[in-house]
Amino acid sequence: MLNQVLLIVHVMAAMLWFGGAAFAPRQLREALAMPREQARVLTAGVLSRGGVLGISATLVLLTGVGLALIRGFGNLHPRFHTALLLTLIWWALGLFVVRPAVKKIVDIVAGDGDLAPTQALAKRVGMMSGIMHALFTVTVVLMLWRL
Ligand code: HEM
Repeated sequence: MLNQVLLIVHVMAAMLWFGGAAFAPRQLREALAMPREQARVLTAGVLSRGGVLGISATLVLLTGVGLALIRGFGNLHPRFHTALLLTLIWWALGLFVVRPAVKKIVDIVAGDGDLAPTQALAKRVGMMSGIMHALFTVTVVLMLWRL
């Protein structure tokens, strides 16, 4: 029973993260192309949805570790150990690089100063998101490829 619940949450949280995070950089770019008033609302929306994505990423990690504990880490095929390492990397990139950059964009747009620095920050978000999705994709292959 616990195994089934963990597996369902594990897969659903991964689906939510992948779909949601895939569109976040584009939403951010589109928000920054808007007049300031609209950009304020739209960038704040990206940040708040990013919080939900952070929770789903954390759920993927925790349920993955839960499933691994049920099976015993030592009994798992090494592809699961690699998956854990990759997931820790993309999870940390999201928390410590992407989220602070989006937060900075929201703060800049909320003020009255120059908007130019938001472009470099949005570029960083786009690049990091690409790396996170690549790592995520490798993790999916490691989860599903029965060697
Ligand atoms: C990108 C992140 C991840 C995705 C998309 C993902 C996806 C999946 C999917 C689709 C399954 C079902 C596979 C099946 O039953 O055939 C699964 C199972 C599992 N996942 Fe993940 N996973 C991710 C990260 C992790 C991490 C970090 C761990 C930690 C070690 C983990 C551990 C497990 C375990 C132990 C199972 C059960 C495998 C089995 O019983 O055959 N996963 N995962």
